[in-house]
Amino acid sequence: MKAKADAIDHPVESPYLPRIARVADSKKFTDKETWLRIEFPDGAGIQYSAGQFMEVGVFGVGESPISICSGPGHRHDLEMCVRNVGDVTRAISSAKTGDTLAVRGPFGNGFDMDSVAGRDLLFVAGGLGLVPCRSFIQAALDQREKFNRVIILYGARTPADLLFPDDLSAWAKRNDCEFLATVDRGNETWTGNTGVITTLFRKMARIDPVNTVAFIIGPPVMFKFAVLEALAMGMRKTAIYCSLERRMKCGLGKCGHCQIRDIYVCQEGPIFSYAEVIKLREGI
Ligand SMILES: Cc1cc2nc3c(=O)[nH]c(=O)nc-3n(C[C@H](O)[C@H](O)[C@H](O)COP(=O)(O)OP(=O)(O)OC[C@H]3O[C@@H](n4cnc5c(N)ncnc54)[C@H](O)[C@@H]3O)c2cc1C
Ligand code: FES
Repeated sequence: MKAKADAIDHPVESPYLPRIARVADSKKFTDKETWLRIEFPDGAGIQYSAGQFMEVGVFGVGESPISICSGPGHRHDLEMCVRNVGDVTRAISSAKTGDTLAVRGPFGNGFDMDSVAGRDLLFVAGGLGLVPCRSFIQAALDQREKFNRVIILYGARTPADLLFPDDLSAWAKRNDCEFLATVDRGNETWTGNTGVITTLFRKMARIDPVNTVAFIIGPPVMFKFAVLEALAMGMRKTAIYCSLERRMKCGLGKCGHCQIRDIYVCQEGPIFSYAEVIKLREGI
């Protein structure tokens, strides 16, 4: 089901060596989250799968794992969205057009969308979970004819926390995908759904639990309750996928920071089926 990591070209000789990337565009989504598009001046391009991540570095500050949020159809650039929570993410968020970043990757298993061709796809994204989820959504919408239903459920805390506003309005206008969004707390201008993301499961049209593959990506508490909803609808544990975030450093299965039992999440994940998560006994 998963994309083969060894199918990805690494244009630099060693995966420890960063490639120079240039910020081609950036936009602030919220007070904390900034979207960036980066290009590679070496001209070698980039190949990645939905669900993979990069180690993004700022010289003199450090390096952080950051999900790729663009669809895998991109070949010469990629997009990411960074929440400013500390030194590295602050430095990445402050990068301006033309600034250089040092990136390694792509890392992680990623997901081969062809393996779910012909199925109904249910994307459930909570908060910053929309960042990795968007790569899957773009992959599905870019090759829309390959899939049956495409359903997107997205929840944020407040209207001010909604990410990718242009995508949200584009998805809402498409007649070939079903899009529902909610916020935990509305404001005086919000006319949409209010309530936690699981309330959207009752608002979407009934799914075919045997033919549906779900990608549920968000904070652990949201994942836990969204999985319960999916299971209650009759979905199989092997057809529910998530992205596990662990502390990561090397991205290469060497430093052990991301180890759970005998696996390295940076290599064998971050995309796991719920059936695999249970085996890892993450307790989520
Ligand atoms: C596979 C993967 C993909 C990720 N994708 C994204 C993304 O697309 N966008 C994004 O904004 N962030 C993403 N993160 C989280 C991001 O890597 C961390 O927020 C970042 O490393 C924090 O570094 P810092 O120096 O800015 O903050 P620090 O000062 O190191 O930490 C600030 C706060 O963030 C917490 N933190 C630190 N490292 C991590 C981590 N690896 N995971 C979760 N919390 C952490 C700390 O506990 C602390 O509370 C991802 C993490 C992983 C493992
Ligand atoms: S991040 Fe080093 S082993 Fe996974």
